[in-house]
Amino acid sequence: MSQITCIGAGYVGGPTMAMLALHCPEHNFTVVDINEERIQRWSSDNLPIYEPGLLEVVQQARGRNLFFSNDIPTAIQQADIIFVAVNTPTKAFGEGAGKAADLQYWEKTARDILTHARQPEVIVVEKSTLPVRTAEAMSRILSSGSSHSQFSVVSNPEFLAEGTAIPDLQEPDRVLVGGEENVFGRRAARTIADLYGHWIVKDRILLTNVWSSELSKLVANAMLAQRISSINSISALCERTQANIGEISRAIGMDRRIGPHFLQASIGFGGSCFRKDILHLSYLCEYYGLPEVADYWASVVRINEFQTDRFFKNILKQQFNTLAGKKITLFGFAFKPDTGDTRDSPAISLCRKLLSEHAQVRVHDPRAREETEHDLASMEGDIAFVEDPYEAAYGAHAVALVTQWQQYRDLDYGHILENMMRPAYLFDGRNHLDHQYLFNLGYNVFPLGSAPLTHL
Ligand code: UDX
Ligand code: ADP
Repeated sequence: MSQITCIGAGYVGGPTMAMLALHCPEHNFTVVDINEERIQRWSSDNLPIYEPGLLEVVQQARGRNLFFSNDIPTAIQQADIIFVAVNTPTKAFGEGAGKAADLQYWEKTARDILTHARQPEVIVVEKSTLPVRTAEAMSRILSSGSSHSQFSVVSNPEFLAEGTAIPDLQEPDRVLVGGEENVFGRRAARTIADLYGHWIVKDRILLTNVWSSELSKLVANAMLAQRISSINSISALCERTQANIGEISRAIGMDRRIGPHFLQASIGFGGSCFRKDILHLSYLCEYYGLPEVADYWASVVRINEFQTDRFFKNILKQQFNTLAGKKITLFGFAFKPDTGDTRDSPAISLCRKLLSEHAQVRVHDPRAREETEHDLASMEGDIAFVEDPYEAAYGAHAVALVTQWQQYRDLDYGHILENMMRPAYLFDGRNHLDHQYLFNLGYNVFPLGSAPLTHL
């Protein structure tokens, strides 16, 4: 039996430890965090994150071999294995600001481990997305000073996507475990691989060196984001010509070499990973003297910003270039459906742009109320969260769909239209709704990447 501690009870640490605890009943898992409220909520049925199926998994293991605590020193002292799942945002200041990873939380964790670890051999597992060679830096911190423990650092990046975290953890495409190239390192990597081996078939668990594992995570996210920017760039071309982006996605996706996933045109990608990871990758390339490669990846983020801006400018243009005092309603604020997470959501920059034109902005989201209200509090202007979608759209000049929640397909759009200003506009930032039906009802519909359907 091992004592396994996870530092960081967020979107990565919480679900991953819950799944490990479920499948490895002989080991004890303690998830710690500096945030007391988060820990209290993990210990209740009002979990701090919304993730379909998560509560059921937590309930099966909690109190048996899954525990949540704020006592970080004790959890480190007892640990044979320590997962590090603290946040690594983009640096907001100094050298590399806006691009490099801000490693202050991560470094504090490394120093906490060095101070408190007591077991003779401790495996430290990197879960946070980190720039490559961070494991090496972690090793350096851990071998500085006199510790009771001998450490081995393993990279085990997390590939779960929000909204599908539970199926992604239950049946991952692959699990990557990167170990240091020495006897202790290889043994440590095998120990971590064996944990996953409780429910995942062997040939899906890849053992690599530490750097390949770290870089694979950045590259996987960069490649996924690059597909979205590619299709979004073509959606702009479609709007200038007679082509339809849905037809193009379908046609190219049927090519087995391309495949159908991540070809859905959108107002732009969001979330805590894509933008941050591409900027890390780009910064890394710059650092290693590869400006052309750095610029190639940075362009994926530029196209993403262009896409959100294009969506906004279209709303402005259709409203005769004046939004002052006009009510614009956003359906959805989370960066994707089935999550309450709003980090880096395109809704944030869209709201800011609308407010800069003095629009009156009303926002609805079925799950992300708390997070949305937190984000709106930092914005200046006439903006508010409204709990009921019909009320949010009451008297609106335009509705903009930002997140493709299923619920938005099931609304009574005839009823919404009755209470909207005329002409009524609907901008579908996800091509989620039935455009012909809405047009027939009387809306002027603006899809992404195809001709608008208007009565004007
Ligand atoms: C991503 C990776 O998928 C996951 O492997 C990694 O561990 C973390 O980052 P996540 O950010 O949770 O996961 O969501 P994802 O489903 O990848 O979507 C990211 C963004 O891209 C969302 O805003 C989504 O709406 C957008 N997207 C996705 C598109 O705009 N079009 C698509 O076709 C797919
Ligand atoms: P992710 O999406 O990567 O899981 P989150 O922000 O959801 O990121 O979670 C990271 C968690 O790590 C937060 O709950 C934060 O409070 C916690 N955290 C940050 N620094 C430390 C630290 N030094 N010790 C313990 N927990 C930390």
